[in-house]
Amino acid sequence: MRRGSWASRFSFYLLAVGSACGLGNIWRFPHVVGENGGGAFLLLYIFLAFTVGLSILVAELIMGRSGEHGILKISRLVSVQQKKPFYWFGRLSLLISVVILAYYSVISGWVLHYLTQFLVGLFNEDRLTYISSIDMTALKNSGSLQFALASVHLLLCGLVVARGVVERFEKIFTRMLPILVILFIILVMRSFSLDTTSDVLRFLFYPDFSKLNLSSLGRAIGHVFFTLSLGMGIMVTYGSYFKDNEHLPSVGFRVTVIDTIVSIMALLLIFPIAFLSESNHYFTDPALLFGSLPRLFVKIPYGEFFGLLFFLCLWLAAVNASIGLMEALVANLKDKYSKVSRNQATLLATIGVLFITIIPAYSGTLFSKLKVFNQSVIENLDSVLINYLLPIAGLGLIIIFFKSLNDTDRRGKFIDAKGKNSQAMYHHWVWVLKWFSPALIILAIALQLINLIK
Ligand code: TRP
Repeated sequence: MRRGSWASRFSFYLLAVGSACGLGNIWRFPHVVGENGGGAFLLLYIFLAFTVGLSILVAELIMGRSGEHGILKISRLVSVQQKKPFYWFGRLSLLISVVILAYYSVISGWVLHYLTQFLVGLFNEDRLTYISSIDMTALKNSGSLQFALASVHLLLCGLVVARGVVERFEKIFTRMLPILVILFIILVMRSFSLDTTSDVLRFLFYPDFSKLNLSSLGRAIGHVFFTLSLGMGIMVTYGSYFKDNEHLPSVGFRVTVIDTIVSIMALLLIFPIAFLSESNHYFTDPALLFGSLPRLFVKIPYGEFFGLLFFLCLWLAAVNASIGLMEALVANLKDKYSKVSRNQATLLATIGVLFITIIPAYSGTLFSKLKVFNQSVIENLDSVLINYLLPIAGLGLIIIFFKSLNDTDRRGKFIDAKGKNSQAMYHHWVWVLKWFSPALIILAIALQLINLIK
């Protein structure tokens, strides 16, 4: 693992923030909020991000500082020590990271498709007509196109990891971040000046609790895990980068704040455009982002450049998140099989994930008949992974955290000698992590199951 090679403290922040902010915030969050009726769900989500999410994020960061190992190895050590099969949690995390990376690659492939479409549009005589015609049809009709694009994405990520140029990529990416932020603000402002703003504000900020259903809690917790990159020991790796004098609870808090701001901005970007359309069903569709954005770019002077830049930034963010996932995979593989080299492990991980990518890529075509609970393969994959398995892995992580560190260790890593409040905060945090978060996770899973069989 690479430690200490990054000089400034700022860049560690950017790394952790970079892993958290990605397609989860900009693509997934808006349609999950749409699906669950807006304002009330948003409130629920924010509450959970700062309780369940933050408490587990801090635990992962602290675990990273305490040990030199990935989650697979930590769980194995705890198993040996306690003589109980805790290693299953490590395996579950590993399995989830493989499937999430496959799923993430397919969506990154969609971004790549839009990126190339905008590029082609630049060279078209009638740019406006071209942009306004950019949509998901080609993707929806061709599983092979989705698979090909996802493969390009994955191979590129594999190459970055295998060549050991991750740091260089991250440097480029973090330098581009200011551009992304400025671009994002301009787009949000433009979107906000559309006529639909007052309806959007009512939808997003006026909580109507009758819109929540039995699954909403699980949907919110699942998304908290996904967007903060929790449950898979990714943040364990980032925790190991921070210097000892860094107060990890504050790091976790800031990462959660930034991630939440980005997510809310994404809502303010997408919904004013989405509200221009009459069909309500469209809000809940995973294609929400892709369907609505081109309609904004048509309205902006030089929209094709904005579009190109936007999808380029989004794709780089996706590459960054995917690299993080792949690095964790490779590190775990190397922990387990000490004889394989870094290159071999990366090759193995890339090929393995590539195989699994077939399932979500062909979900709408080859596997279109395979519907369970009236949902397509890709929808079920998203739901099982994010709404059930990630929170279960989170529970495992909490257990491993408490078994691998004793109270003195935990306290020592949490409390900041200078901060007066950290003693009290420590007790709150342990309480939330030990009782509140597990209780809510179990409740969320139970309610979703009841909703399924109801
Ligand atoms: N958090 C990222 C996003 O919002 C996705 C992601 C990166 C992730 N690494 C992860 C999700 C690990 C779960 C686990 O786009």
